[in-house]
Amino acid sequence: MRRPRRNRKSNTIRNLVREHEVQVADLIFPLFVTEGKASTTPIKSMPGISRLSPDLILKEIESCMKLDLTAFALFPHLPESKKDKFASESFNPKGLYIKTIKAIKKEFPECCLMTDVAMDPYSIDGHDGLVENGEILNDATLPILSRMALEQAAAGADIIGPSDMMDGRVGFLRDALDEQGFENTSIMAYTAKYASAFYGPFRDALDSAPKLGDKKTYQMDPANQSEALIEAELDLVEGADFLMVKPALAYLDVIKLLYDNFEVPIAAYNVSGEYAMVKAATQNGWIDGEKTMQEILLSIKRAGAKIILSYFAKEFAIGKKK
Ligand code: PBG
Repeated sequence: MRRPRRNRKSNTIRNLVREHEVQVADLIFPLFVTEGKASTTPIKSMPGISRLSPDLILKEIESCMKLDLTAFALFPHLPESKKDKFASESFNPKGLYIKTIKAIKKEFPECCLMTDVAMDPYSIDGHDGLVENGEILNDATLPILSRMALEQAAAGADIIGPSDMMDGRVGFLRDALDEQGFENTSIMAYTAKYASAFYGPFRDALDSAPKLGDKKTYQMDPANQSEALIEAELDLVEGADFLMVKPALAYLDVIKLLYDNFEVPIAAYNVSGEYAMVKAATQNGWIDGEKTMQEILLSIKRAGAKIILSYFAKEFAIGKKK
């Protein structure tokens, strides 16, 4: 009789036949930087995650590096007074974000720093693009994106992450970077980023919720799968080095679809709401947080994501050292 259970009979055999494994080296840890000194502001809806002032961001990176967690995605939190219609603060070389990128790469040249290219953290409208008469403009947004991307690249960013779902922005940024001599700066395309309710806690973290309307004219409809193939083809032709799916858990089919159809490494963003759900249930004693985290990260890897952006990254790395 065929008995699949024979391959599960001992720990050693289970280890021998195991098909997938998450490594610390697969993970990118998102960090939130805010103004100030020695200041930590916990984000209520993301237990364990805080906005940190630049000095503490450096400390956090140092402690992650000791755990062999060496890839980070940095997002800025700005006071309303620094926001405007044109996201001007995003390309201010003396602004919080660009200065922090420089400081990180100066102190830890060996870390891999991914930066965010989108208007929402700096926009008074809370949208990822320029807003005119209630419309989110596409092409008029692109030059603003390239200005911020160039400042970030000049500050030392290793990977640029255009997170806004504007059309044509990967090609536009690739050309701008190449023209200015940043041909070695990578682009991780937010290829299939869905108009999702799972971003709620992140918008708390950045105070970046849209003031009016929603993001449905640029982010993808959660009902659509084939459309991700169109986005992926375009991003590849335009020069993306990685294709990302976001969120991860409710979109494992999309991760698998891109994995099966494209040769470039696939990334997935295990977003704030996915993290918050696990933390809330853990705090209530309803699930085992550690095991749930392991299983979730594994499911994302198994679906085909080589790279996972996750707020669990440090916790996972600590677990590996134990
Ligand atoms: C926006 C952006 C969002 C996230 C990353 N970049 C949210 C949004 O579209 O409003 C969400 C990440 C998360 O939820 O963890 N440029």
